[in-house]
Amino acid sequence: MEQQRNDRRRDDAQDDDRPGDVMSGPRPRFAAWTRTTNAITRHMVGVQPPGSINLAGGLPAPEIYPLDAVRAATQRALDRFGQRALAYSPVAGIPELRALIAARYSCPGRRLGPENVLITSGGLQALDFIGRVLVEAGDTILAQFPTYLGAIDAWRPLGARYAHLDWTAPHAVQSAAAAAAKFIYSVPNFSNPTGALVPLERRRALLAACREAGAVLVEDDPYGALFYDGPPVPTMFDLEAERGDEGPYRGNVVYLGTLSKSIGPGLRIGWAVGEAGLIQGISLGKQGSDIGTAAFTQAVAVELLEAGVDRDVHDRMIATYRRRRDALVAAARAHLSLRFDFEAPVGGMFLWLTAKDPAFDTDGLWQVAFDEGVSYAPSSVFDSAGRLKNALRLNFTLNREADLEEGARRLGRAVERHLQRPRDAGAASRETMT
Ligand SMILES: Cc1ncc(COP(=O)(O)O)c(C=O)c1O
Repeated sequence: MEQQRNDRRRDDAQDDDRPGDVMSGPRPRFAAWTRTTNAITRHMVGVQPPGSINLAGGLPAPEIYPLDAVRAATQRALDRFGQRALAYSPVAGIPELRALIAARYSCPGRRLGPENVLITSGGLQALDFIGRVLVEAGDTILAQFPTYLGAIDAWRPLGARYAHLDWTAPHAVQSAAAAAAKFIYSVPNFSNPTGALVPLERRRALLAACREAGAVLVEDDPYGALFYDGPPVPTMFDLEAERGDEGPYRGNVVYLGTLSKSIGPGLRIGWAVGEAGLIQGISLGKQGSDIGTAAFTQAVAVELLEAGVDRDVHDRMIATYRRRRDALVAAARAHLSLRFDFEAPVGGMFLWLTAKDPAFDTDGLWQVAFDEGVSYAPSSVFDSAGRLKNALRLNFTLNREADLEEGARRLGRAVERHLQRPRDAGAASRETMT
């Protein structure tokens, strides 16, 4: 019942957002799934008013983008690839880039070749294709909860059901859950949205459960290189190679990577790595979508990776993000800890705050915060059912320290204003936001 009401509110909000009646004839009715999208997401990605501090997006620091290196790599790519850079590329990617990615993840116990790699337009597109080629009506995806908003959006048209992945469940429970699912979706390194890092033993346990269940385990790892404290934890893809036999890769992990967080999201270069037959199947999604990622950016990516640009940028990126993480955590302690609990993340891009009052509604807070000049991502957008209301996600990589401090101050002010509102006013604001 509550879900129906939510859906209706979203429907209304979507209609409100659409441009006015400029079509000469009647507008077609959009497919039903479009009415399940979350209106707040559209506000989040919309234009921010001048002076507003954006803590909502998961965006890198633009001043770190290696412009000079990309300029030089572009020239080299055009010299080297010539007309190929402007032609259609093979569906699964240009061989040079597939080979580079295969070499990057080859190790003792796992021999990978280009046939194990699909190049996608960003990591999100790989999630889209995995859903399209695997999920049929009624299928369940066993996913971390709360879940990456992009994945929820990508799988929305499929009408997928979700079960919550419990990293702490006993082996038998985890195996049964994995066996009942079409695939498992996980972000063990600094999850989006919670920033949580899954410990080594839990990774091993999930891997074993999926292996026993014969289930495909999707490991989405855009933040793996963004460690600020302590040594990295091995990926499940790497842990799986420990039992490899040097032959072609036969495992059940599909590992997803991207250049978005290490170089820049504007390149739209991501990849899926896995068993050759599975990769071939996932490529069918690519064929019907864009026939292949832009050859031009793939050629530039080859030059960037061969020159080690991602490694060159890495140290500066880590130093900058660590400072910003510290600044936001300190500001959150000063301005938000009265109402929220949180833990400082050891990597990634996000700080996740859970309201001490379970009835606190961060959807309702959103407009008040927006009016105060700060935006954040409310927890409801990371729940496919939109029900998780008492938490929020703040990004710390985009803004400089002073803006992070000011953003947290504004948010703290908004929280108090929100709590002082008459109840009806809060309800009215929620109506327009969800
Ligand atoms: C968990 C997760 N997966 C995948 C992506 C995909 O990023 P892109 O499509 O830019 O590679 C993101 C980006 O924010 C993310 O947070």
